[in-house]
Amino acid sequence: MGRENHSFKLAVRPEADVVPGKTFKLETSPAPTAEELKDGEVLVEALYLSLDPAMRGWLNDTRSYMPPVAIGETMRGAAISKVLASKSSKVKEGDLVNAFCGWTEVAIVNEEQFEVVELPKGSKVTDALGVLGLTGLTAWTGLEHIGKPKAGDTVVVSGAAGATGSVVGQICKIKGCKVIGIAGSDDKCAWLKEELGFDAALNYKSTSFREDFKKATPDFIDLYWDNVGGEILEMALDRAKFRARFVMCGSISGYNAPGKESKGIRNLFQVTAQRIHMEGFIVFDFAQDYARGRKELSGWLEEGKLKRKETIARGGLKAADQAFLDLFQGKNTGKLLVEIKPYEKA
Ligand SMILES: NC(=O)c1ccc[n+]([C@@H]2O[C@H](COP(=O)([O-])OP(=O)(O)OC[C@H]3O[C@@H](n4cnc5c(N)ncnc54)[C@H](OP(=O)(O)O)[C@@H]3O)[C@@H](O)[C@H]2O)c1
Repeated sequence: MGRENHSFKLAVRPEADVVPGKTFKLETSPAPTAEELKDGEVLVEALYLSLDPAMRGWLNDTRSYMPPVAIGETMRGAAISKVLASKSSKVKEGDLVNAFCGWTEVAIVNEEQFEVVELPKGSKVTDALGVLGLTGLTAWTGLEHIGKPKAGDTVVVSGAAGATGSVVGQICKIKGCKVIGIAGSDDKCAWLKEELGFDAALNYKSTSFREDFKKATPDFIDLYWDNVGGEILEMALDRAKFRARFVMCGSISGYNAPGKESKGIRNLFQVTAQRIHMEGFIVFDFAQDYARGRKELSGWLEEGKLKRKETIARGGLKAADQAFLDLFQGKNTGKLLVEIKPYEKA
């Protein structure tokens, strides 16, 4: 008998939080095999699945930067995967690829759906999804093209202890900025200050947060990196310097309440009053720069200037839906991954 495969399919569109065991259905089916491969395709086995806040948006049937996942479709996602068989000249059996294979154990992907994993000195396999993957590249490209941090700038980063925010803050420190991180626990704030070298870190769940934010920005903000939207964005608008830059990367506080995040911004007039440059982007916009970004990020990693943390949910693919909910409850520090199968070096 052939191998069994497990995949998470979208069962119902959530109206608020995803509900483990209900939003997605774990299905069992025969795994695809090498005999089914067409030219240019590879058969892969997923090892580490990336969990990203953006995935919540893909569950809504609304206009966005990519179409929603259809009901009954395998949940979309990327995983570091091992090549089991190949009909592509780019890879051979045993190679590692970053495959856009979805929430599944075994899949067939074509050359447009995978990238060969390169592991520069000082890196490990899971970095290909974190600091050297799309989250690290989001930080790098958003700063390179929009934020443009300069020495002496006061930078505020929300979602600072997450995968993207922790890289944003560290790059800004490397560039000589004063960096203030905002995160959801004292432990995360301690990590930002003591290990990553942020100048200050504020816990947005503290009762004194509003006052702390004001005190931490006496000279106002040159650059605000927004990962969360909502009330924290409002506070940042009120502390923006004349001609501040606002990099609009994400708005996680509103993802589980679609539509509410934009209604919540009550002081958008500050964009006009302070002539703020506010720009949104999607990392794919800068795909032509990934190689340059990876080179710089891996150099900093090797030199020890860039640190990273990851939170790995174990228990195989079936741990994915609960872990995905955990992302919205701030249970991760750094990049959140699901270990589908541990990586064993050949
Ligand atoms: N534009 C792009 O191309 C692009 C690419 C990648 C990511 N993003 C965006 O970047 C942001 C961060 O993504 P990531 O992958 O790096 O995830 P992440 O920051 O590693 O994880 C999400 C974090 O968000 C925080 N959070 C959850 N609910 C929140 C709320 N209501 N208010 C404030 N913080 C909340 C939690 O930390 P706390 O404990 O601090 O609450 C959680 O750990 C997201 O908005 C995402 O959509 C955008």
